[in-house]
Parts: sequence; structure tokens; C-alpha cells
Amino acid sequence: MQFSIKSSAVEALRTACVLVPVSHGSNLSASGKALDEAMGGALSAALARGDLQHKAGATLLVYGDARKAARAVLVATGDEAECSERAFTEAVRAGLRQTGALACDEAVSLLHEAGVKGKDLAWKLRQQVAVGRDLAYRFDRLKSRKETQPVRPGRLHLLVARADSAPAQAAVARAVALANGTDLARDLGNLPGNICTPAYLAEAARKLGTEFKLKVQVLERKQMEALKMGSLLSVARGSEEPPKLVVLQYNGGPARQAPVALIGKGITFDTGGISLKPAAEMDEMKFDMCGAASVLGTLRAVAEMKLPINVVGLIAASENMPSGKATKPGDVVTSMSGQTIEILNTDAEGRLVLADALTYAERFKPQAVVDIATLTGACVIALGNHRSGLFSPSDSLADALLTAGRESGDPCWRMPLDEEYGEALKSNFADMANVGGRAGGSITAACFLARFARQFDWAHLDIAGTAWRSGAQKGSSGRPVPLLTQFLIDRATPA
Ligand code: BES
Ligand code: MN
Ligand code: ZN
Repeated sequence: MQFSIKSSAVEALRTACVLVPVSHGSNLSASGKALDEAMGGALSAALARGDLQHKAGATLLVYGDARKAARAVLVATGDEAECSERAFTEAVRAGLRQTGALACDEAVSLLHEAGVKGKDLAWKLRQQVAVGRDLAYRFDRLKSRKETQPVRPGRLHLLVARADSAPAQAAVARAVALANGTDLARDLGNLPGNICTPAYLAEAARKLGTEFKLKVQVLERKQMEALKMGSLLSVARGSEEPPKLVVLQYNGGPARQAPVALIGKGITFDTGGISLKPAAEMDEMKFDMCGAASVLGTLRAVAEMKLPINVVGLIAASENMPSGKATKPGDVVTSMSGQTIEILNTDAEGRLVLADALTYAERFKPQAVVDIATLTGACVIALGNHRSGLFSPSDSLADALLTAGRESGDPCWRMPLDEEYGEALKSNFADMANVGGRAGGSITAACFLARFARQFDWAHLDIAGTAWRSGAQKGSSGRPVPLLTQFLIDRATPA
């Protein structure tokens, strides 16, 4: 779906379809009223019959002059004068669906004329791009029969006053860049483990680097051995696929400015290793690299936006497989930090690869580090599928991420990180164990990571519940690319 800003008189429109917001069940927006007049009162007449339900997302089709606005789709935003974010999103989705069902190739939207509580024009434009791109998203590259129907509408014209057109253009360009980044993360997440291997992720990073002028470096097993990354390497031992530590650098800020580092868990398939997972839903463990995918997606968005900020992306990529060489429960390894780890459960592998990536991040002297990981099933139990888990000892960093999540519609929720929880990691044989028992499993996992993140301002996002959907709609969500991108936008333009 393509988007463009249009500034012309609504009476003069020539289009297959106009999307018109209606509040309170019968109140047309400003341009909606002008269109109604141009259509000889057809819109108000239809509303007067009472056929448009008040519920946000209800629609009513009205035909007009085929040589002008051939159709108008009235879209209800609910009973309030200013609707909620959710109601607006529902209205946009319904309006675009209806336009698509009518097989319109293009449409003009007036939906941003609806009042939305606490939201400005730029937000309403961005939201239409986000919803449109989500509806248009397809993943059929592995199907021999591709979807033959084109995406409809193929183009959405957003009608704004001429005075608003420059900022509106900028808002739409940013929203498109974000959607491109989100789609990249979704594509990588949806690819199966036999295609999206650690080497594939490294290649995807290189491609991104070439397209957007990022510096990309891939550390191979040999180099990781030289760096004494015993924790990361212990996870890769059972696999035939060599591990990769991918380093991407986007330098949009002043040369001397410390970068923000994003570290993604890139387990391209998690069988659990010797602590093998049960068969049910194990296929979903191809999504265990969604943290890594979100790092690539965010860098793509940030680079396309040309944000004035420096960002380092680190991807700790490996498979987690059982084999005769695999790490065994009880094995003790030495991490790059020098701390020793007793691996009591080989299925707690995410924290092991992240530990060494965190230590590696020290060399960039980052102003802040955020790691992103599908880390624990316990986080899904705690927060379900709506909010990602946020852990940080820093109130200011946590607040910045909470705000970015709220702002971008990709929310997270702060979880505790008290020292006391970390006591569960005590080992009789090493500096710590890699698991702390069932109680507070997402918190003890975060406590483990905290021991490798003492050198900088750090936060951890557990995206186990938000990175993909299960069931009939199974597929990657692209989260938390919107949250991370908004966080970097906010950092690049301090208040
Ligand atoms: N990748 C999983 C976490 C996961 C499981 C995410 C299910 C989403 C759905 C992670 O590597 C893992 O296996 N974690 C274990 C930790 C446990 C052994 C302490 C878990 O959550 O069961
Ligand atoms: Mn695991
Ligand atoms: Zn995992």
C-alpha cells in the first residue's frame, strides 16, 4: 500500500472512494460536510435513515457521481466527540477493509479529521500508514501459489489542508520507514529455522548494511574463541550451524557521541538442547530470533529516517540443538566477563548468548544498552500477549522505554529487579547457575543478565509474549520495532 498527501478541494475530488469519519453516530467531519454538499446531501440523508451503527468501525457505503467521488464510505468512530486511540484504529482498519472489499484501487481518506483524545494530526496520519501496512502485509514467499489479488487499496491519499502538507509529508515518510523496518523484522521472524540460520541473519545484516551504509562486521567462532566467549559458544556446541556475532553500526549523530546499543537474542531455533522441549508447539521456537530481527528492523527504520543518533546493533546468533557434542546439564563454562556459569538447564540458552554480547558491548562505551529477547515462557504467564516485559535498574531509562511504548502503541510494563530475586541463581559449583527455579522466572532471568550489564545504563525487554501470535493467525508481529524506533527518535530529539 502506498501513501501520499493530497491538498485539494474535497468538492473537486475524482476518486473511487472517500473515507469519511462520523462521530456521535451522525456528525460529519469538516471536509465530510463539504463532500456531503457536493454530493447533494447524499451523506446526511443516509445518516438520517439511521443505518450507520454508532460503534467504532461500523461502515456505510454511499454511492456518488462516478465522475467525481464515486463512493463514500462513512466510518463511525464511536459515540464520543473525541474517540479513543483504539476506536480510531478500529475505524481505520474497517474503512480500509471496506475499500478493499469494494475492489477500489485507490481511495482518499478524511479519517484524520476525527478527533482522537490526546493525539495530533501527525499521529493520526502515522496510524493510518501503520494500519494500512499491517493489512497489506503478506508472507507468501514459501508458497508455490502466490496471492494473485493485488493489495487494495493500492494507494491511499491523505487529504490535508495545504498549510499542513509539509509536516504531513514528514509524518508519513517516518511512518513508512517504520513500517519498512517492522516488515523486515516480521519477514525474518516468519522464515523457518532451516532457512533463517545464524549465517542467514548475518547475510541479512550485510545486505542492510550495503543498502543503508551501515558498518557491518561478523564475528566467527574463531574470533569468539579468542575473545573467550565461553557462554555464547556453549549454546552453539550442539549445532552443525556455526554461531555468528553480528555487529552493525549506524552513525547518524556527532562522531564523538556515545552510541545506544541494541542487543538481540538470535536463537534461530531453540529445541531446548539436551534439556529438550516437548513436541507441542516446538515449531514456534523458530521465532526465538525475534529479538535479533527487531534490532535489524529498528536499524532499518532509523537509517531510512536518517535520525541524528549513533546506534550499535549486536546480534548473538546460534541454534540450540542436542547432540553428542552439546552442552550437558551441570556443565560449567566461563563467560567473556570471567564469571563462571553452571548450566543447570540447557533450555535457558538466551541469557547465555546475551551475557557475552553484553560484555562485548562494553567496548562501544554506550550511553545506554537495551537487550531484546524472547527470553522466558514465564513472561508470557505474567503479562500475556499485550505488553512486553521491561526490566531495568535505571528509572530514567525505564521511563523512556515505557513512554516510547505508549507513544508508539507497542507497550511494555516494568517488572521488578530486586537483588533478592537474584539469590535464586546461587550455585554450589560456579559463580552462578543459569536458572533460578519456576518462581518469578522472567525476573531471575533478568537478574542473570544484570550481572553482565554493570558497566552501563541497561534495560532488558522480554518479548516472549509479544513477538509473535500463535494459533490461526500464527506469525511474527514485528514488535518491538515501533517501541525501539520511538525510543531512538526521542533520544535523537531531546525535549
Ligand atoms: N525461548 C525460550 C522462551 C520461550 C518459551 C518463549 C516459550 C516463548 C514461548 C527460552 O529459551 C526458554 O526456553 N526459556 C525457558 C527457561 C527455563 C528453562 C528457566 C522457559 O521459559 O521455559
Ligand atoms: Mn530455551
Ligand atoms: Zn530460547
